[in-house]
Amino acid sequence: MNDHPRHDVLVAVSAALLLAQAIGAAHASPATPPPAAMPSFTAAQADSGATVYATKCVLCHGAALQGYAGPALSGATFLDHWLSGDKTVADLHWKISTQMPYLAPHTLPAQDYLDVTAFLLSRNGFHPGGTPLDSGTLPVPLPRPPGAPPAVPINLNLPSVPESPGRARGTQPGDDELIQPPDTAWPSYNRSLAGDRYSGLREINVRNARSLQVVCAFQLGETGSFQASPIVYDGTIYVTGPYSTFAIDAADCHKRWEHQYPADMSPPLTVNRGVALYRGKVLRVTPNNHLLALDAATGELLWDVWVTDKAAGRWMSLAPVAFDGRVYIGEAGADWGANGHLYAFDVDTGRRLWTFNTIPTGTEPGADTWQKGAESGGGSTWSSFAVDAAEKLVYAPVGNPSPDFNGAMRPGDNLYTDSVVALDAASGRLRWYVQQTPHDTHDWDTAAAPALYEQGGRRFMTVGSKAGYLFIYDRDTHALVAKVPVTTHDNDSAPITVAGTHHCPGFLGGVLWNGAAYSPASRRLFVNSVDWCGTTQLTEARFLAGVAFMSGEHALDPIETAHGWTRAVDAASGKELWARRAPAPMVAALTPTAGGVVFTGEMSGEFLALDAATGAVLYHFNTGGALAGAASTYRVGQRQYVAVTSGNNSKITWQARGAATVFVFALPER
Ligand code: HEC
Repeated sequence: MNDHPRHDVLVAVSAALLLAQAIGAAHASPATPPPAAMPSFTAAQADSGATVYATKCVLCHGAALQGYAGPALSGATFLDHWLSGDKTVADLHWKISTQMPYLAPHTLPAQDYLDVTAFLLSRNGFHPGGTPLDSGTLPVPLPRPPGAPPAVPINLNLPSVPESPGRARGTQPGDDELIQPPDTAWPSYNRSLAGDRYSGLREINVRNARSLQVVCAFQLGETGSFQASPIVYDGTIYVTGPYSTFAIDAADCHKRWEHQYPADMSPPLTVNRGVALYRGKVLRVTPNNHLLALDAATGELLWDVWVTDKAAGRWMSLAPVAFDGRVYIGEAGADWGANGHLYAFDVDTGRRLWTFNTIPTGTEPGADTWQKGAESGGGSTWSSFAVDAAEKLVYAPVGNPSPDFNGAMRPGDNLYTDSVVALDAASGRLRWYVQQTPHDTHDWDTAAAPALYEQGGRRFMTVGSKAGYLFIYDRDTHALVAKVPVTTHDNDSAPITVAGTHHCPGFLGGVLWNGAAYSPASRRLFVNSVDWCGTTQLTEARFLAGVAFMSGEHALDPIETAHGWTRAVDAASGKELWARRAPAPMVAALTPTAGGVVFTGEMSGEFLALDAATGAVLYHFNTGGALAGAASTYRVGQRQYVAVTSGNNSKITWQARGAATVFVFALPER
């Protein structure tokens, strides 16, 4: 299934851990006080639980419980998560029996949920006995199993400071090229710091796009989430998996170097959206919250900052942005009860320069929009940022509040959730903000990075959100200029109830992690969206540190009902100019060019070149893997290329297709 070496490493690591535990148990000092009441289950239960696991859980959590599309269910992190003293067997069983299998909860018989809980206990250091696990024996505290190493407390001394940061060989790109990228490059996630994604290349155009062909392909050798955007500079493509970074030749796909960070599958989701390139460095985050600087020339690790502790329910997926000597990042974790932060680090030293709390507390402005509940307020960062280089402002999208669905637990507007905040790049101080969904009860993150543009003397900012709208703001007056519906809206203001409320968009609808692109040539915005409804029911909210904290269950409508849209709207008024209905969800980014073409892709695997004037399909190619990242266009020599990331196989909610692959397209050589 997945033959990537990191899994062997993980199996080896967890085997070593079990061995260490066994040794620890053998040497347990006789003076140790007798353990508290142990969770009870029978060997027959654990066996039957193994069968449940192998049929209902293994796909996401891995044959050795090592984690794959879902987190690891054994090893140190699982122990620290569940067995650090304050949780009970009933809590673990509650998590499994009310929320698993992920997005298909309550689909197993009650006995299976008990048995699979017993199986997990048996694989984490507990021994079966004569008493079965049942409703009577569930409410037992979950102690550390005999012989397990002591729980590691959450590390509060973070971020760490790298001791001897290495120096990069190169010095490019600098701020100038990030602000105004040359045609040869796609140097940031959304190409320019303003995030418009527009390329001035015109060799591939409306008349000849039908002749595009694949020049080469590069397989990362991984399956799993693949949502990265190819970043291109000086003839090299930089592309990432959750823990891997590759540099490949942008014209023939030959690998130049590869860097593998030790894979840690314990975060709830393991996904990465790409790198920032700056002053000879490749900057990226890992799901377990490290910020890495690699030498862009060699892939050598120059510094590694441990930013924040995953034990607090925080993790990272975004593509950083770099500017003015700093690299900017943020973390996710809202849906796990964690409050978000945005950070700036010194690019040379890896030292943290500032932190912005996306959930204000104390006397910080906005704290009064939380009448209660700010202690688990949410506010994740998922994608990337836009930068106003002239004003030196970083525009950051902030995600949903926590817990997701039960608004009664957190009355108020809940700033700065579902907002865009504009921060002073040097100090991290808030300059202004706009909130797209005050007091969100639908998990309608503002997840995609905004785009900044100027037209007719007016300075605009646009952002799409999971609420199913594209918002256009005036950056000077901060006024909302337009709120454009980009997906089906149905019953979306009805309250979420215990009985269940069906609404569109559902919690995976609207604009996801890729936002709008702006073409100065046609003065249009292009935006993709997902049309997918679902039913949300309020449920008990149990706050367990580091564990998903939702206060409701969302059942997506069958995937067959999901589809996508690409829309073109007037960038000054928001007036819709055309809409193309796609048979599959559209989550990939869009790339408009001076050739009048817009490159994008579908979750079905189709790479598309659309006519920017009409939305007509000029060229399509089925890559065989779901497209959930981006297409980046650039020039090497005289030839224009388009690199697209295919093979998002996250297994969780989307149709899983393919393996992580970069495809490079161009016109036939003349
Ligand atoms: C479709 C993928 C998928 C399947 C199938 C699945 N899970 Fe999960 N599981 C996840 C994801 C994603 C998370 C993290 C989000 C969350 O905690 O809700 C998770 C979290 C968990 C957690 C919490 C881990 C922690 O440390 O917080 C447990 C326990 C768990 N799953 C057990 C199971 C069991 C047992 C089954 C089978 C009955 C199962 N899962 C099936 C995807 C899946």
